Amino acid sequence: MIRFTMGLNMLLLLAMVATNILSLYHLSSNLQSKSPAPVAAIPDHLLRQLHTIRATINHLTRLQPTTTETTSSAKTSHPTIPSDLLIYTHISPIASSCKDHPDLLYQYMNYTPFSLCPNDALLAESLILRGCHPLPRRRCFSRTTSTNPTSLPTSPFGTIPENTVIWSHYTSNCKSFTCLARFNSEMGFDMKVEKSRFLEYKSDLDLPISQLLQLSKSAKSVIRLALDIGGGTGTFAAQMKLQNVTVITTTMNLGAPYNEAVALRGLVPLHVPLQQRLPVFDGVVDLVRCGHAVNRWIPVATMEFLFFDVDRVLRGGGYFWLDHFFSKRMDLDKVFTPLIGKLGYKKVKWAVANKTDTSGLKNWEVYLTALLQKPVSR
Ligand SMILES: *[C@@H]1O[C@H](CO)[C@@H](O)[C@H](O)[C@H]1NC(C)=O
Ligand SMILES: *[C@@H]1O[C@H](CO)[C@@H](O)[C@H](O)[C@H]1NC(C)=O
Repeated sequence: MIRFTMGLNMLLLLAMVATNILSLYHLSSNLQSKSPAPVAAIPDHLLRQLHTIRATINHLTRLQPTTTETTSSAKTSHPTIPSDLLIYTHISPIASSCKDHPDLLYQYMNYTPFSLCPNDALLAESLILRGCHPLPRRRCFSRTTSTNPTSLPTSPFGTIPENTVIWSHYTSNCKSFTCLARFNSEMGFDMKVEKSRFLEYKSDLDLPISQLLQLSKSAKSVIRLALDIGGGTGTFAAQMKLQNVTVITTTMNLGAPYNEAVALRGLVPLHVPLQQRLPVFDGVVDLVRCGHAVNRWIPVATMEFLFFDVDRVLRGGGYFWLDHFFSKRMDLDKVFTPLIGKLGYKKVKWAVANKTDTSGLKNWEVYLTALLQKPVSR
């Protein structure tokens, strides 16, 4: 049913690991914001998990298991394949990582065609985060809310209209944007906080938009179109919109309606995980920004593919902005600086500073903010 090569399998496994780690990291940062108590325990736990996964990957690389074995064992333990899944596999290929989670996949494809889809946004999100992306299409009607915005947002920093989200998709106790804003202003739902983001220079790690535009202007390079990877509620896109620059935001719905919020602000949300090939053509964007969703938790090989995909979509002379990338101090010198160096970009800005929160101090972490310029031609 699902065919793939060993190399692809390994790549997707790495990618899957990346997103799992990422979701763990997000979960841990949510936990941290709720109560400071479990902070110390979480990074160790994640580290152990990462070591286990890396060990598994090494093991798999040595063993080179045959793909037929894995598929047949999956088949015997899950004999009933939903009929719509069978039909769909004849139409379009399914991401190889989907087969690693047949229980979730079968549950997802087990629905009544031509009727209302099950209320299972959380299930879809789990599959995507496990590397099952793109998800198979389904022939059912997605659920909608009964209230919808009736006018254009006056500003991307205005109050996000309530009652325009299906809150049952999210397990959090918050069932409104107001609640999310009060719960944790770091999540990006508090517009009073968001309004000043990317504008101020508080430390060398900041790159205010005015400075960014000045830098590109003095290099005779224009920023018209940008991608913000892991852009949360879309605040970078919102600020750039005020500068007449178009920014597309990739964002996942990790426990909260990030995609809905981006859309309600009149911006473009792309619901794609970090491991997906960026869905734009080669050389069409002027700037790619990676926020701190891109960090040391992502395995190096996965990061390399991500960075080279960024290079693919950037035009000559375009900018790659790593904003508050964090890693261990040693790894920055030994691993990440050489990795970034492989791109051969010009360092327009390179600022490193200690990460001074609890986990940062404990793990000797540093932040890097770098603005890099792609060579004009190769
Ligand atoms: C954005 O475009 C509008 C309409 O053309 C214009 O009035 C405004 O001055 C522009 N803003 C900036 C920052 O360029
Ligand atoms: C950052 O942390 C390292 C290790 O703890 C320390 O040696 C260094 O002085 C710190 N740098 C600054 C600027 O505080």
